[in-house]
Amino acid sequence: MADLNPSIDVILSEIAEARSPEALEELRIKVLGRRGSLTLAMRELGALEPEERRRSGAAMNDAKDRITAALGEAAARLGRAALDQRIAGERADVTLPVPFATAGRLHPISQTIDEIVAIFGEMGFAVAEGPHIEEDFYNFTALNIPPEHPARQEHDTFYLPPRPGYRTNRAATSAADGGDGSRLVLRTHTSPVQIRTMLAQQPPIRIIVPGRTFRCDHDATHSPMFHQVEGLVIDRTTHMGHLKGCLIEFCRAFFGLDDLPVRFRPSYFPFTEPSAEVDIGCSRSAGELKIGAGGDWLEILGSGMVHPQVLKNCGIDPSEYQGFAFGMGIERIAMLKYGIPDLRAFYDSDLRWLRHYGFLPLDIPSLVRGPLPGGAA
Ligand code: PHE
Repeated sequence: MADLNPSIDVILSEIAEARSPEALEELRIKVLGRRGSLTLAMRELGALEPEERRRSGAAMNDAKDRITAALGEAAARLGRAALDQRIAGERADVTLPVPFATAGRLHPISQTIDEIVAIFGEMGFAVAEGPHIEEDFYNFTALNIPPEHPARQEHDTFYLPPRPGYRTNRAATSAADGGDGSRLVLRTHTSPVQIRTMLAQQPPIRIIVPGRTFRCDHDATHSPMFHQVEGLVIDRTTHMGHLKGCLIEFCRAFFGLDDLPVRFRPSYFPFTEPSAEVDIGCSRSAGELKIGAGGDWLEILGSGMVHPQVLKNCGIDPSEYQGFAFGMGIERIAMLKYGIPDLRAFYDSDLRWLRHYGFLPLDIPSLVRGPLPGGAA
């Protein structure tokens, strides 16, 4: 037969030892290229006797298959080695100091949630969370907001499409707005997590619930998605005095003002009785708002003693347990504390805004990272 020169074994061992993709390509051209040794040998087959041609042809096809397979394997081997080398070279040293000039910033919402969690954490509150897509029952019905209640309109609810064939064994209510449970909602407040917590755990309960909430509303002071933090305390002897003490303490710690005036104004929520709106002292002069003693008031949160019906809805005996709840908008208090004028900019993801209003992870002290300004720790 037409002899292959160099022999197939030599070629195969050269391929196995190739050190780079370029060396491999050279070998391929040398054997299988247009003027390659195997290509030329195969071209000579035509001149052979038929019997000899068949034998040599089969052997050469076999050689070609083996060489092609070896080239493929070697290419894969070199590819893996190159990748390993790149990974080793690009490994990040996480122990290196952070280059602060280029470091990312914490969004004011994250920073404010951290501060709130730190303050209530010191008071013994745990953090609870719940789903953004909520059942009508948790968002309204269990909170003493029946289907025909006007508060459902106030909430400007985002309803999801009805769930066909949905059956609930909970108290059936009107189907008009999903009161039968066939429609899910984007939660309009963090209060459904009160219900979920009371259904899941026996008192004493002491939780705060920071999280996203949704209402169909959009202007300079309202966004369809915003954040609230809810608070809930249930125990045998918890009373209105605890509510007041806890919220006065929070307002003073959060704004870093030991003498911040705090006022409780009678109000109404379906899920609390009595209910109170909480105002903090401020002054307004020449269009500038300043938090602190100043003769003027600014509303910052809603609160009240948990309605006995809400406790009953959660299987808690109101003759044995009572407690208080509160809820506030996180954007609002962040804007007040850090002088941020426009709500909409919170969600624009504009890096210039974030560099200006954002926080370096280590530079602004809070209870998590050090004392608050004003020594409120
Ligand atoms: N859920 C109420 C709201 O969104 C706030 C609130 C919570 C009021 C708890 C009282 C008690 O407006």
